[in-house]
Amino acid sequence: MLRTPHLIALAAVLVTGPALAAGNDDAMLKLANTSGCLTCHHIEPGGKGPDGLAPIGPAWKDVAAKYKGQKDARKTLTATVMAGSNPYESHWKGKVSGLAMPPNKVAITEADASKLVGWILQLK
Ligand code: HEC
Repeated sequence: MLRTPHLIALAAVLVTGPALAAGNDDAMLKLANTSGCLTCHHIEPGGKGPDGLAPIGPAWKDVAAKYKGQKDARKTLTATVMAGSNPYESHWKGKVSGLAMPPNKVAITEADASKLVGWILQLK
């Protein structure tokens, strides 16, 4: 019977794990929404932009797939989110209708941007 408390503790971890992850999703979606990201980005691929054109910015699940396994992705993309993207070096040319992403540093702190990018990169 000595092992019972461990089993109970394990069960608690199993139950609260997914709940915590969902809470994080909610917090991240709220952050994305209040920071204005969702006016240009969808989470799920395949969404259309205004006028039925390609979406303005890439779907975040596409972003996660593109940078999967790239070590510096979080740092690089956080910098892009803060400073904006280079219209002469578009990473999503032909796939999105937006020419470039404007700087978001007026709308979000670097710490929050890094959190959001970390969350975006783990989307599946
Ligand atoms: C005004 C529209 C707009 C807003 C607002 C916007 N984005 Fe973007 N975003 C874009 C466009 C357009 C691109 C594609 C840039 C390119 O082709 O290199 C992009 C690209 C990205 C990328 C991928 C960059 C790359 O180099 O591949 C990430 C990550 C991203 N946005 C996150 C965010 C986050 C987080 C926010 C909110 C803080 C945000 N975006 C707000 C339009 C926007």
